[in-house]
Amino acid sequence: MKGLLLAGGHGTRLRPLTHTGNKHTIPIANKPMVLYAVENLINAGIRDITVILGPMKEGITEAIGSRYPATFHYVEQEPLGLAHAVMKAEPYLDEPFIMHLGDNLLQNGISQFLNRFNETHADAVIGVTPVKDPRQYGVVVLENGRVKKLVEKPRDPPSNLALVGVYVFTPIIHDYTRKLKPSWRGEYEITDVIQMMVDDGKRVEVVHVEGWWKDTGKPEDLLEANQLVLDGLEGTFHHDHATIQGRVQVGEGTVLKENVTIRGPVVVGRNCVIGPNVYIGPYTSIWDGCELSDVEIENSILMKEVKIRGVNARISDSILGNNVVVESKPGIPRVTRLVVGDRSKITLSSP
Ligand code: TTP
Repeated sequence: MKGLLLAGGHGTRLRPLTHTGNKHTIPIANKPMVLYAVENLINAGIRDITVILGPMKEGITEAIGSRYPATFHYVEQEPLGLAHAVMKAEPYLDEPFIMHLGDNLLQNGISQFLNRFNETHADAVIGVTPVKDPRQYGVVVLENGRVKKLVEKPRDPPSNLALVGVYVFTPIIHDYTRKLKPSWRGEYEITDVIQMMVDDGKRVEVVHVEGWWKDTGKPEDLLEANQLVLDGLEGTFHHDHATIQGRVQVGEGTVLKENVTIRGPVVVGRNCVIGPNVYIGPYTSIWDGCELSDVEIENSILMKEVKIRGVNARISDSILGNNVVVESKPGIPRVTRLVVGDRSKITLSSP
């Protein structure tokens, strides 16, 4: 079994974060998002992984590095759809493979998919899970537990079952991608390929995904994924002066100054300076090298080397890119919500 990891695409819905960096390197609980998929594949025993890179590819090979026990092949792709990524990677996919979208997080990993494939020897295995608003997903209609129809981002969803971004295929899929035409939105859709396989009588098995699943297309999805991962955080941290409540992890070299309160689940990276006068509330992740003073922050993601100083307001539900600086002048509103790309400088002030 081989792996195909999709880390291309445009990431338009995550602008401005994706203007300066790749969506897959955005940290969720201080770990680049793509590594959740890499580790799912590694934990499932996959040792040969083809990674699809798109136009904004910086940082992905570095994030994956050389620490995983697998061979990685990197293939560049214009973002013309998920099935197009399979076409580009075809030379590497000469045996059954598990395809994992690089922006999908699954609480319980991907072994469910492999188990079903090994039990059934199907031509494909797909995963579904019920969602509140199916219009933004590939939607699957089942009949007596078997796949009947797949529709990509339907205006009028025929079911509430979303297609999860993990699939197992045998090399038979290449016969179908070769016949595929682009959809109305100009993309080679994986849903169309699976539909062709179903219509042709191929065996497509379905697993109902257990545990949470998160597709991180939009900023609010990043915050939700961060919450879900931090909910599983372990760790107790003690500090002589700071007030620490709940599950909190603090990295090496980080200094906590006077009057710091951290209420978990919270993860703080390495070499940060926190304080004086800082409150960090639940579901906040602060990556390496950040400096915070005179601020309250909660439910937020801070990337590397963010500096927030003298902001006498609460920052909430925010995503701050690498090297962002936030400062303020007196008289600003009490709560501030920000989604800010790398290297921006923000000064909050009253009109
Ligand atoms: P999408 O979320 O469908 O697309 P996107 O990441 O480009 O985002 P947006 O819609 O906001 O522009 O992509 C799902 C995953 O598949 C994501 O990890 C990127 C990857 N992908 C590719 O590798 N190649 C592609 O051609 C496309 C469309 C996506």
